[in-house]
Amino acid sequence: MATAPGKIILFGEHAVVYGRPAIAIPLTQLRATAVVASATQPGIRLIAPDLGQDMLLSDAPPDDPLAAVIRQVQTAVNLPTLPDMTITVSSQIPVASGLGSGAAITAAVVRALAEFLGVSHLATPEWVSTLTYEVEKIHHGTPSGIDNTVVAYEMPVYFIRQQRQNHIEPFTVARPLHLLVADTGVRSSTKIAVGDVRRQWQENPVKFEALFDGCGRITQAARAAIETGDVAALGPLMVENHALLQEMTVSSPELDRLVTTAIAAGASGAKLSGAGRGGNMIALVTPEMETVVHAALLAAGAKRVLITTLA
Ligand code: PMV
Repeated sequence: MATAPGKIILFGEHAVVYGRPAIAIPLTQLRATAVVASATQPGIRLIAPDLGQDMLLSDAPPDDPLAAVIRQVQTAVNLPTLPDMTITVSSQIPVASGLGSGAAITAAVVRALAEFLGVSHLATPEWVSTLTYEVEKIHHGTPSGIDNTVVAYEMPVYFIRQQRQNHIEPFTVARPLHLLVADTGVRSSTKIAVGDVRRQWQENPVKFEALFDGCGRITQAARAAIETGDVAALGPLMVENHALLQEMTVSSPELDRLVTTAIAAGASGAKLSGAGRGGNMIALVTPEMETVVHAALLAAGAKRVLITTLA
């Protein structure tokens, strides 16, 4: 059995696909779980009760995500055949909402399978991250690699996508940050949002390079503020980052409403998080304002509001 957490991107989504830095943190209270057990029946059975899925690997469609994970692990450990087994996955992380549910499920299955196959010594965060990235590529086309990195390493990271080897840097948090994570309830495809940004970048490279540069500068300033404990500087940086994401057309009326509501209710900053168009937004609050902003977000239509602290 193994688990992996969800994640939130604090700064730099989308621009991270184009080599600008981004900051992401694990969302440890929402987790994906994979259980691998020996089977008495022949074959490899894949069960995802949340999705109502129960099938044999041999019957899985070519693009099935769980089947892809198993193939990745089998190739990585160089086994010509796999033993009969049952793989059951479940997740508390809502799908298609910017919280990294796909990467978390993959990472949990990779770890649980490695253990079951007696190769858990291989399952370092780097190995789990690399295999998870390969599966993400199948579904997302051009993922930056930040999701698989955060869920596999399970620590806050400053991330830059690079040829050959990504730049992954843990950073220190001088003063705790209190964040609310609010779900619009609107499901949105990362692949479509990322593809739309790519099309607009191709049509208008000067404008989009400038937007990405702006996100990169904000992320660098945010990292400095987190490391020096300058929490007051972070709220305005979130607001600026959200404005750039709006210009990239990845916000939505629901996200904008929750961002405006959070700030009006006393959050020091707020922005969408992840691919956008739906999914989740985040708001930075003081412990004193947490309850008020939480209630305001629910009143403004948020389907769920989580509280998390980066310490
Ligand atoms: O919405 P999510 O959790 O899939 O996050 C996507 C983050 C992007 O920067 C938009 C894409 C990427 O691959 O980094």
